[in-house]
Amino acid sequence: MKHIVFLTGTGISAESGLSTFRGKDGLWTKDEFQYFASLRCLEYEPKRSLDFYNMRRKQLASTEPNRAHQLIAELERHYKVSIITQNVDNLHEKAGSTNILHLHGELCKVCASGDRYNEAYVEEYPLTTPIKVGDRAGDGSQLRPYIVMFGEDVTNITKAMELVRSADLFAVVGTSLMVYPAATLLDYVPRRAAKFVIDPADMPSCDELGYSHIRATATEGVETLCDFIDEWDCLTSLDEDFYSATSPVSGPITNSTDTWHMKDAIMTIVEANGYSVWDIRQTTSGFRVELNNTLDDDAACMLCGQFPLSADYEGAGNHGSLFSLYS
Ligand code: OAD
Repeated sequence: MKHIVFLTGTGISAESGLSTFRGKDGLWTKDEFQYFASLRCLEYEPKRSLDFYNMRRKQLASTEPNRAHQLIAELERHYKVSIITQNVDNLHEKAGSTNILHLHGELCKVCASGDRYNEAYVEEYPLTTPIKVGDRAGDGSQLRPYIVMFGEDVTNITKAMELVRSADLFAVVGTSLMVYPAATLLDYVPRRAAKFVIDPADMPSCDELGYSHIRATATEGVETLCDFIDEWDCLTSLDEDFYSATSPVSGPITNSTDTWHMKDAIMTIVEANGYSVWDIRQTTSGFRVELNNTLDDDAACMLCGQFPLSADYEGAGNHGSLFSLYS
């Protein structure tokens, strides 16, 4: 079963009514909020810190997942789906996703101030019940939200790397990738994986790495991605041998995939048959390949038969025989 891995950020929850952090009106545009979200504030002014999180917990209690969360949850019917989220909300869970790794904690849980990393003291806590100064955790220390505050280490990053390493398709949804170590997860995506970013804003760090950018809000963008996934699954299932035999290849022939890897695969097959390529161009339906110094109908027809994709011999080009490959 193919493994689809999502890395999500607050942008995916924006259409449910939750604020992002860095956008216009984002939470971090208010200086005092960054202080309230720090370990220092919890230690020196716990009421202000707890009030800040109680406000966010209460807001979350009446927030519902949106279509993007739901579509991701539905993908579990056909694929292994892993979600790595920087979000502290529970909207992926509410939508029905089952394999969610939180990097920055969860608003619906509490833990012990005295021993934040001790799972024995982590428990679900009603979102509408405020956490008050003097409330005690299992070890007798102040109860606190199970959140990674400024000044604390991110948990689960090693597990997240392992998930990313096994992705067949990796999609980044609604995160500015400004925060480390979450942003470093992009370094662990296998070359063969199809890679997408869904965000209405420019995403230069993804564009440089050859991600297909679906420039849309999460609800629209995840819908587009799901249409693509159906097509990708059909093609990659059909061509499993092709993909493994001609590594590196990252996905089907469409404008939205990493075409460099597909070109590599085509060249590998052509060269394995003793010919060389003059030019490979992407077309709306696939690729047009021109051989180098080979005006030979039989050779071109034989090569067409070597691809697990549909292939048409088109005759002589300026440099050699031409054929088209399409899915
Ligand atoms: P940011 O506010 O940094 O980025 C939100 C991203 O969502 C931006 O790239 C927006 O363009 C995009 N966005 C906005 N509206 C969207 C929509 N409707 N659909 C899709 N995308 C949309 O938030 P994060 O990247 O999530 O950490 O922030 C990462 C971490 O920084 C947070 O987990 C938090 C913060 O400090 C901690 O609190 C530890």
